[in-house]
Amino acid sequence: MTADTAFLVRAPGRVNLIGDHTDYTGGLVLPMAIDRYTDIRGRYSGETIALTSIDEALAVDVCPDVTDPAVVEPAWGRYVAGVVAEFHGQARCFRGEVSTTIPIGAGLSSSAALEVATALACGFGGDALALAQLCRRAEIRASGVPCGIMDQLSIAAGVAGHATLIDCHSLTVEPVALPDGVDVVVQFVKHRTLAGSEYGDRVASCAAAEAIIGPLRLATLDRLMEITDPVVRRRARHVIEENERVRDFAVTLAAGELGAAGALMVASHESLRELFDTSTPMMDVAVRTLAATPGVYGARMTGGGFGGCVVALTEPGALSSGWIVHPVGGAAFVAANDAP
Ligand code: GLA
Repeated sequence: MTADTAFLVRAPGRVNLIGDHTDYTGGLVLPMAIDRYTDIRGRYSGETIALTSIDEALAVDVCPDVTDPAVVEPAWGRYVAGVVAEFHGQARCFRGEVSTTIPIGAGLSSSAALEVATALACGFGGDALALAQLCRRAEIRASGVPCGIMDQLSIAAGVAGHATLIDCHSLTVEPVALPDGVDVVVQFVKHRTLAGSEYGDRVASCAAAEAIIGPLRLATLDRLMEITDPVVRRRARHVIEENERVRDFAVTLAAGELGAAGALMVASHESLRELFDTSTPMMDVAVRTLAATPGVYGARMTGGGFGGCVVALTEPGALSSGWIVHPVGGAAFVAANDAP
C-alpha cells in the first residue's frame, strides 16, 4: 500500500452467551463476535489520527505522542487516544470516518470494537491476542474502568459460525460451533456506560475474596465460609458457580442439548441478579418474559450489566422482537477495493 492508500478496517461487536464478571478473575467466558460492525474508512496522510463519526457531532484529532487519553475531548475520542497511546509514538497517521451498526452504550462492546478497529488502522501487526491485550490496556487507560479481556479478545479472535470459549487465565480461545436450527436473539433494554458504574466495585470485591481464598478460578464452594463479609462471599460464589456453568454450557451447546443450555443461561441471570447485583428490574422483566415465551430455551442479561441488552437462545423464528445475530469472524483490515 502507498502512503495515501484508502483503507477499510472492520471490527464486529460481541454478545456474551454466558460467563459474566468472570474474566477479570481469570475465569471462563463464552461470547461470540456478531454481525454488527464498526468500520473505519480512511486514508494515510497528515501528522495526526483524525476521525469523524457518523454518530457524533464533534471530530477527534489525536497526536501520535498523546500521553493522557482520559482527558481527550470529545469523550468518544478517548478510546481512540487510548489505542494511539499504546503505540508509543509509532501509530500510523490517517484521516478517516467511523460508522457503526453496533448500538452504542448497549453492552455489545461498541467501545471495544472502536478500539480494535483503531488499532488495526494505526498499523497493528501482531496476532489476535496481542491486539486484544493492547486494546484492553487502551480501554482501562481511556475510561478508568478496570475491565477484563473478554470484549477485546472475542472481537479480535471471532470465528464464523462459532461462539468462543475463552479461558481468561491461559488466554486460550476454543471455538464452539453454534448448532444449526437455533437463533441467538438480542433485545435492547436500556443505555448504560460502565464508566461511573459499580463495575470497579465488583472487581474490588473479587480481589478481596481472592486475598482470602486464593484465585476464584481454582476455588471450591466449601472455601466460601472463610469469607466473613457477606457481600464479598456472594460475589465470590457467583464467580465460582458461573465458571462451572460456562463449562457445562459449552458441552451442552456442542451436543445440541439446547434445553439444558437455556436453563444454564437462566441460572446465570439469577446469579447475576441475586449474588452479583448487576441486573436491573427492567432486565429481570425482559428475561422473565423471554424465558416464558414458547420456543425460547433460555435468556439472560449479557455483559457488564447495570443496563444494556439481554440475550436469548431460541428455536428459529420464536421471537418477533429483537435482533437475530450470527457469529462472525474477528476484526480485519480490508483494502478499499475489497470492501463489502
Ligand atoms: C464488560 C467488561 C468485560 C467483562 C464484562 C462482564 O463488558 O468490559 O471485561 O468484565 O463487562 O462479564
